[in-house]
Amino acid sequence: MNTEIPFEEFLNQHDEEAWSATLATLLRSIHEVERTATQIWFAFYPLSLFRALQQSEDRDKLVRQLLLQGDYELKDQIDRSHKFLYGHRFWPQVKAAVEQHAGSFNQTSRNSLADQILAVAHNAAQAARKDDSLLIGITAVAFMTVQQAGLTAFKSAPGTIGIDDKHAKKSPEQILRERAKVDSQGLLGFLKTVNKQFTVTHDENDDKAKYKLNDGQDLAWGAANDRARDWVAIDSRRMEGPIPVECRSASCGTCWVGVLSGADRLNDVAAREGKKIKEFGYIDTAEPKPLIRLACQAQAQGAVSVVIPPWNGQFGKHLRALKEEAQALLADQPQTDRRANEAVN
Ligand code: FES
Repeated sequence: MNTEIPFEEFLNQHDEEAWSATLATLLRSIHEVERTATQIWFAFYPLSLFRALQQSEDRDKLVRQLLLQGDYELKDQIDRSHKFLYGHRFWPQVKAAVEQHAGSFNQTSRNSLADQILAVAHNAAQAARKDDSLLIGITAVAFMTVQQAGLTAFKSAPGTIGIDDKHAKKSPEQILRERAKVDSQGLLGFLKTVNKQFTVTHDENDDKAKYKLNDGQDLAWGAANDRARDWVAIDSRRMEGPIPVECRSASCGTCWVGVLSGADRLNDVAAREGKKIKEFGYIDTAEPKPLIRLACQAQAQGAVSVVIPPWNGQFGKHLRALKEEAQALLADQPQTDRRANEAVN
């Protein structure tokens, strides 16, 4: 008997809102080192966009319409989309625990999505001999990956860790200490009012993935001076440094980043950035220092650590229109039912 399909069916009963509620529940139990990273990952791989593409009659046309570029599909990056999460180092144990859960999934189980994630994270944590709090975020990521990529593809992935031993051995406390560091401005640096320089880290698992920028420069401006590598060879969108950019004026959405640490060391979101980032579909919040920013608008006032998503697009308006359409259909439903009943009587 195939017991795997019911697990996928169970996952598919959950939409973006259900996942948001699940994440809100889980965040309380997720380790500090992982809390922001988990939220960034879920912003990078929105279920509503996946579903819009899946249900589209002409997928290629929609991809063009939404200006999607890069790796936006989880099925193509099952083992690596979450390299920036601390829990990535436990991916083999998490993957095995999720597969085991899917294989023995009890269709009649009334356990909520959050409870199932907590239970699977606990099993994986026991296998890894770590605290549950370090594996809850990555387990939630694994569940969403199954939902978007399908269980067959998930199981087919090799389940490898994509970071080296040196970084894999770092403790959560070590990483938190590194994130809290402020850039020394040298002797008497506290007197400096000009020429202050700050460090931007764009991959915490790579010691060379850092660049400097001057006080008040935006993240994309600073990145353009980083010629340490052939960035285009790594990602064709990276024409000027590690962060992909095009317009530099909050018009294209190419330069979005997740802010792992130092969100409070960036300027407040200005009106244009706030409006455009919502239109692009990356985040919908009124927070002045959110975890997703446009690098061409976010100006550093201290050291920050960011994550660069492997894709970009403009899908916010489209998803909102789909949602409104679905709500209108739902609102019409009782009237239709009433009319049908009246006809019968
Ligand atoms: S480069 Fe176009 S929005 Fe930032």
